[in-house]
Amino acid sequence: MDKLLIEGGLPLKGEVQISGAKNATLPILAATLLAPGEHRLNNVPELVDVSFMLSLLGRIGCPSLVSKTLRLDTTRVVFHEAPYDVVRRMRASVLVLGPLLARCGEATVSLPGGCAIGVRPIDQHLKGLEALGCTFELTGGYVHGKAEKLTGADITLDFPTVTGTENILMAAVLAEGETVLRNAAREPEVVDLVRFLRSLGARIHGEGTDTLVIEGVANLAPAVEPYNIVPDRIETGTYLIASAITGGDVTCLGTRPDEMENVLEVLRQAGCEISIEGDAIRCLRDGPLHPVSVETAPHPGFPTDMQAQLMALMSLANGESTIVENIFENRFMHVPELNRLGADIAIDGNSATVQGSDSLRAAIVMATDLRASASLVLAALAAEGVSEVLRIYHLDRGYARLTEKLLRLGARVRRASGDERGTSVSLQTMATGFQERTSNAS
Ligand code: EPZ
Repeated sequence: MDKLLIEGGLPLKGEVQISGAKNATLPILAATLLAPGEHRLNNVPELVDVSFMLSLLGRIGCPSLVSKTLRLDTTRVVFHEAPYDVVRRMRASVLVLGPLLARCGEATVSLPGGCAIGVRPIDQHLKGLEALGCTFELTGGYVHGKAEKLTGADITLDFPTVTGTENILMAAVLAEGETVLRNAAREPEVVDLVRFLRSLGARIHGEGTDTLVIEGVANLAPAVEPYNIVPDRIETGTYLIASAITGGDVTCLGTRPDEMENVLEVLRQAGCEISIEGDAIRCLRDGPLHPVSVETAPHPGFPTDMQAQLMALMSLANGESTIVENIFENRFMHVPELNRLGADIAIDGNSATVQGSDSLRAAIVMATDLRASASLVLAALAAEGVSEVLRIYHLDRGYARLTEKLLRLGARVRRASGDERGTSVSLQTMATGFQERTSNAS
């Protein structure tokens, strides 16, 4: 089980290249099932979750090959099942449900089950897909779906679920007639999925608003040009906070500042000097950190995926901060671990009160989920002494080449077991059985 050794107290300085967004890549990979043929994707991040999705697509019959550009051949779908042993490791596997129903007329997907941050049901996914004409049976922990015919519908979600919006959208693009999806998610990753679907020939309007209008088409085909995945705004926010928490001066390159105003505003309130130049965002912090009060909300609100990282930062602010988690019911698993590092955080229901202190002290702490792990790394970068963050496989799911990027910024960090090459993800190891298609291939 890998762990990170981190010697804190050093300000991070320099530039870091941001990778493609995990939460755009996963739905886009699932969406390739809608258009038989060879797809090419650029800026695909080297993440465990991406390799999980590629191996699931490989099992469905769609091989992939990774070099600078990811090539994925969805000509053949031989299975329409996402088995439990895959879904239990990555809930986003549920994203193949809509595309398989639209492509094959049937799909069997394991219920994702809960995870560290909450129960995470998929009732809204099923509600929207049923409105399009799908029928479902839930047996043995699996969702068995059938869709004789998909017909456009007027659907209103009870909650702007991100992957729920994406699953319904990916079925609606091949439904007959018009679909209106109301109270839809507005996250930039949903917008990127819409852009990708449009590159396949889909007809969609309203991305970035709470109402998507989809004109179904008879079929879709791979785009001519490779598609460029949008940069990861959560990775960006995490490195900006790494700069802020260490009193550093870090510039993130290859970002989309327009998608991050919610996070940048909070960092300014906290006392950071944020400057933007094109696709670069610089965060300089050389004065005191000020406390903030933040509530997480669906985009364009403050992202729940940045909540744990902000909490780590506020543990060094000169006053009391309040952070309210409105999206997930159990997303404070990082709190007891941050308190082991010397933070002073109290929880009351979905609200956390953070009494800022002058310093944090190194400790051995345990990661529980992806963003909680990031918050522990951030706190350890500021804590005096050498901390150990255990179970960092969580980090490999969402942060490409984290150790390498931190080292480049001057951090004293080392992965304590297994060499970086063997443990960090190389997509090549997960791309499965891609055959160069000869000209006379069927
Ligand atoms: C997506 O998860 C992201 N994952 C999450 O990122 C992110 O935290 C979340 O959106 C919120 O922004 C991917 O995009 C792969 P939701 P998702 O459906 O779609 C409830 C990370 O760290 N809900 O918007 O699963 C649900 O229980 C991950 O990168 C229902 O009740 O989130 C939760 O409380 C973590 N019924 C809330 O909505 C449903 O049918 C938000 O869920 C669906 C959701």
